[in-house]
Amino acid sequence: MSNQAIMEAAAADLGPVICVVGARPNFMKMAPILRAMAAHIPPVPVLLVHTGQHYDKDMNDRLFEDLRLPRPDVNLEVGSGTHAIQTAEVMRRFEPVVDAHKPSCVAVVGDVNSTLACALVAVKKGVPVVHIEAGLRSYDRAMPEEINRILTDQISARLYTTERTAEDNLVREGISSERVCFAGNVMIDSVVFGRANARSAAQTLRACGVDPLVLSHPMGYGVVTLHRPSNVDKPETLRALLGVLAEVAASLPLVFALHPRTRSNIDRFGLEGLVNPARMVLLPPQGYLEMLGLMAGAAMVLTDSGGLQEETTALGVPCLTLRENTERPITVEQGTNLLVGRNRAAILGAVQEILAGRGKRGRLPEFWDGRAAERIAADLYQWLMSTQSGIALKSLAT
Ligand code: UD1
Repeated sequence: MSNQAIMEAAAADLGPVICVVGARPNFMKMAPILRAMAAHIPPVPVLLVHTGQHYDKDMNDRLFEDLRLPRPDVNLEVGSGTHAIQTAEVMRRFEPVVDAHKPSCVAVVGDVNSTLACALVAVKKGVPVVHIEAGLRSYDRAMPEEINRILTDQISARLYTTERTAEDNLVREGISSERVCFAGNVMIDSVVFGRANARSAAQTLRACGVDPLVLSHPMGYGVVTLHRPSNVDKPETLRALLGVLAEVAASLPLVFALHPRTRSNIDRFGLEGLVNPARMVLLPPQGYLEMLGLMAGAAMVLTDSGGLQEETTALGVPCLTLRENTERPITVEQGTNLLVGRNRAAILGAVQEILAGRGKRGRLPEFWDGRAAERIAADLYQWLMSTQSGIALKSLAT
């Protein structure tokens, strides 16, 4: 049998790629990958599994609609829990799915608990794991996501990176360059896809019952999101941050899209009094097209989200990251991102710089061009074929 014939036989035999999503930031990464797998010639068979880590309409359904994600083939409905419970529950419920569908590989994105849990199940069953957005490191092991990133990368057979320094991180951890493919940033594929349909800030405010006049300030408005446990889980930290944001709001009206964790902590710690609704509008978690529109029209974004650091770089909007570190250094080196931590003077100083027209303008990093998923689908297909035909060749030899 010729090699070509073996490749064709292997292609016909290809089990589905199980694509896993669990939490909000996974959805914008997986949506372009699913489209690219379907558009690939020949199409790559896919099974979409949702772990159910995020489940609220605001955290889930709206994003599925905005990103035109298909309904998941399987929903594990794990819901919330401690890290141990959530991770264990995903593993327990994911295992029978892998057994039933005999996938060619399991593809996971990002760094949430569902990412690691599904990767662990797959690797222990001898199913190759493919990690998209591999190699990012904050070098802060107090972040649960850092643990998820390191461990997922260690057990992945194919790793797709968004920036070149990610490969250096992986190689330092003993991962061979041969397993790594620099494909670009799928998060930006979604920005490119959604931008034309983004909702304006005025539309979004009106839909939430807020008069858009609150944003009619000569300087425009700022957008805020905060949800990292290190920023919002301790009363004194959250109080201090809300205090600084109130000072920022004196110069620039703010729109604060609240993650459920942050909303409940503001209530629990009795901090509502720090929010002046005439200067700081609190909104529920927003859909993808609403967030895109809010960010695109903003004078600046203040955030602790990883995704927003990247999206603001793509949109050319100055971003102040309220963290001491970032796993996405390219957004600082080439993009519009500035790390300001939780330091009051640093935050207020940076805000004034931006308002004076001296915010970072940045440039678009390499391969943040809307075509990362296409590159991943092409490489993944080739890679699966070579491993499948490797198996076929081996079975011929025996
Ligand atoms: C998770 C990810 C984080 C990501 C974030 C985006 C991990 C370790 N963390 O953090 O990396 O940046 O998602 O949002 O995986 N909740 C709801 N409705 C929901 C989902 C959650 O109300 O649909 C509330 C629950 O009270 C829950 C809390 O939010 O306990 C936290 O949710 P969880 O998924 O555990 O972590 P996130 O903080 O969202």
